[in-house]
Order: sequence, then C-alpha cells, then structure tokens
Amino acid sequence: MGLFDFLKSKKKKEEAPAEAEVLPLDSSELAGIEPPETRYTQEYQDFLASREAAGDGIELPGTRVRDTEQEVMEMKTLVAYFSAGGVTAAVAKRLADALGAALYEIKPETAYTTEDLDWRNQESRSSVEMKDKDCRPPLMDTDAPVAEADLIFLGYPVWWYREPSIIDSFLDAYDFKGKKIVLFATSGTSGIGEEAPQRIARLSGAEVLPGKRFPADVSAEELKAWAETC
Ligand SMILES: Cc1cc2nc3c(=O)[nH]c(=O)nc-3n(C[C@H](O)[C@H](O)[C@H](O)COP(=O)(O)O)c2cc1C
Repeated sequence: MGLFDFLKSKKKKEEAPAEAEVLPLDSSELAGIEPPETRYTQEYQDFLASREAAGDGIELPGTRVRDTEQEVMEMKTLVAYFSAGGVTAAVAKRLADALGAALYEIKPETAYTTEDLDWRNQESRSSVEMKDKDCRPPLMDTDAPVAEADLIFLGYPVWWYREPSIIDSFLDAYDFKGKKIVLFATSGTSGIGEEAPQRIARLSGAEVLPGKRFPADVSAEELKAWAETC
C-alpha cells in the first residue's frame, strides 16, 4: 500500500463513527398512525395510586401457568411492562389480574413526553435512542422482584419494529439466568418480530419463549388462555 492509500484509509477509519451502529428508521409502515400521548387512563392512574397508598412491596403468589394433561406447574410469575401511552399498561394489568400474578411497571428515570414519542421527528428523543441499539436510558428504580420470579411476562409497545431501549436497560439491570421470559407487545400494526426472542435471550441470558403482539382490546380470557400455553 502506498503512502497515499495508507493515509486515505487512516482518515476513513478516523472518520468512521466511534458510536454504536446507527440503525435506519423506516417509518413507511407507520404512515397514518398518530403518535400516542403520554397519558394513562383515569382507571389505570387510580390503580397505581391505590397501590402506592397501600405501600406494600410486590408479592409474587404462586400462579398456575401451565395446565396440560401431563403437567400442572406452579410458578412465581411476574408481569413486567413498559408503557409510554397506557395501552401496554392496560394489557399488562389485564394479564396479571387474569393470572393472579404480580405486576411491575418499568419506568425510565425521565418520563417520555409527547414530543419525545414523535417518530416523525428524526431528532425526537425516541428516534435518537432507537437509532442506537446500545442505548440504555436510566431506569427510575431497580425494585422489580425478578430474583423471586420463575416466569416473567415482559410487555412493551413495539418501537421501530423492536423493543424500546428502556427494555434493554431493564434486561441489563437484573440477573435473569435460569428464568423464563415470555414477550408480549402492543403496536400500531407491527408484529413482535422474529428476532425479538433471540435478541432478548442474548441480552438477558434467560430462556425466552416466543411472544405475541396483542390488540389494545384483547380480553382477559384470551390473555389467560395464551399464557397457559406458554
Ligand atoms: C417511538 C415510537 C415508535 C413506534 N414504532 C412502531 C412500529 O415500529 N410499529 C408499530 O406498529 N407501531 C409502532 N408504534 C406504535 C406503538 O407501538 C403503539 O401505539 C403502542 O400500542 C403504544 O403502546 P403504549 O401506549 O403502551 O406506549 C410506535 C410508537 C412510538 C411512540
């Protein structure tokens, strides 16, 4: 290699972004869907307020999650979820109620504002975070009773065809070895994606079972029937 080529290749390396790979965000599937507002329903706010007032830690009752002719298993089950607009929160609560499982909300240290969630703006907080697959926004707390749980239903809204970065922060913050994780999601139209279980298994070290995307109005019966097959 001549000196010129060497200098040219050196310059290229120096110019290459030291940052993590920047992923393209293709919003064609989202055309026509309005970004959600960060507002929980009154019913859900009342539920959160009443739980806070009760002041107890989250208890994990044994939950019968598998019921086949061969097998009836009791597992300590946790439903952990992140929700920016309340849709996933409502599904998560319905699922936890149907299973008699504990419920834990994954909260970012800094809540997402409506502007933060605007996917039409490439500079919005969510766009910037989701372009960087190594982004780990700080969590509000690390109080999830993961250590006590055997089975964790992990719910989130699909953001840019995958899990929001705050879910990756959650996976980094706890030890999931020996646990089972089942994914569930809500979205405008996208499915949970074929890669999600693999990626989340890699990030958590847990066994991750195939997950499912649900519409906002999925019934408790449907959620229970699905959970019992996991
Ligand atoms: C930043 C951002 C990215 C999104 N990306 C997708 C997507 O890739 N596919 C999709 O179908 N919906 C997408 N949505 C829509 C949400 O998945 C959907 O509104 C979800 O039900 C919101 O749940 P939540 O109310 O629990 O936050 C996106 C929403 C936001 C805010």
